[in-house]
Amino acid sequence: MRRYKIAAIPADGIGPEVIHAGLEVLAALAARHGDFALDVETLDWGSARYRKLGALMPEDGLAHLRGMDAIYFGAVGAPDVPDHITLWGLRLPICQGFDQYANVRPTRILPGVKSPLAGVGPGDLDWVIVRENSEGEYAGNGGRTHRGLPEEVGTEVAIFTRVGVTRIMRFAFRLAAARPRRHLTVVTKSNAQRFGMVMWDEIAAEIAAEFPTVTWDKELVDAMTTRMVRRPASIDTVVATNLHADILSDLAAALAGSLGIAPTGNIDPERRFPSMFEPIHGSAFDITGKGIANPVASFWSAAMMLDHLGENGAAQALMTAVEQVCAAGIVTPDLGGKATTKEVTRAVCAAIAGMNAAG
Ligand code: IPM
Ligand code: MG
Repeated sequence: MRRYKIAAIPADGIGPEVIHAGLEVLAALAARHGDFALDVETLDWGSARYRKLGALMPEDGLAHLRGMDAIYFGAVGAPDVPDHITLWGLRLPICQGFDQYANVRPTRILPGVKSPLAGVGPGDLDWVIVRENSEGEYAGNGGRTHRGLPEEVGTEVAIFTRVGVTRIMRFAFRLAAARPRRHLTVVTKSNAQRFGMVMWDEIAAEIAAEFPTVTWDKELVDAMTTRMVRRPASIDTVVATNLHADILSDLAAALAGSLGIAPTGNIDPERRFPSMFEPIHGSAFDITGKGIANPVASFWSAAMMLDHLGENGAAQALMTAVEQVCAAGIVTPDLGGKATTKEVTRAVCAAIAGMNAAG
């Protein structure tokens, strides 16, 4: 029996609802497959802890997580706590402390889900966006002086390093090489931004030489938004900076039907530290507690986590179950359905239970 230690951090908003749903589905999978088990420790870190104790996570939080095989994360952010505090108090310290430099964001149109793009169905939109996750615009480099005075200055300096760009580029090319279409689009803004972005283009060309089986092209980020809308089938794997990919991945999720289905993995490809898997939708306070949060992003993130752990059969089974349930129209209101979080979860668990153990 293979055993994995998982830290679950449901945190804020709809995080607890969708992580709870994900843990149920994972338990159903482990029961069905019978050859692996997940030892889950659920941590109460998040904004509620901040209100009580003044910190979103304990001081030795990272040390605690270090012994885990993976982290399953919900969402962080609360209406009464400034966003930069919640973000820098929990999620970014984990991403940066564990050097999870590759943020992987797959998007495709699931069966039964309608894209807002006319005439675009499953198969026409099947992308993976690789987001640089350790530096760039999120490097935390900046400051403010003369606060409140007319001459106040704020800087927000993007940092691109040769090491950082090279390793994300290599990761993206390797991922593209493993996908059927073997195509990578490198996104920058190297016309207007002459330094870091031009270095990004140069490093892309260098690394491309290591991957002769991969075709690649370059796109400026503004033009990329149009290409995603007008020629989705021309795109396969994408690599972009932290901020550019943040924006493009929201657009990608919307074009694939809903932000409620989009998953992500914050990966340390060298496996020195645990990687972290989470839905990208965020805490969604408008629907918190209503029982209608779409758990599909959380399920898909769980499948990515299983893949990362080497449980590829279980990951595949989970995605098959999710696709069956979507195809049957058992979907939450964000996808035009009437089902609740619990109903979707129950349906996915039933689909898993109905599969043969080898599937
Ligand atoms: C995401 C989110 C976060 C980000 C927010 C919550 C800061 O939008 O994971 O895409 O920009 O990284
Ligand atoms: Mg985002």
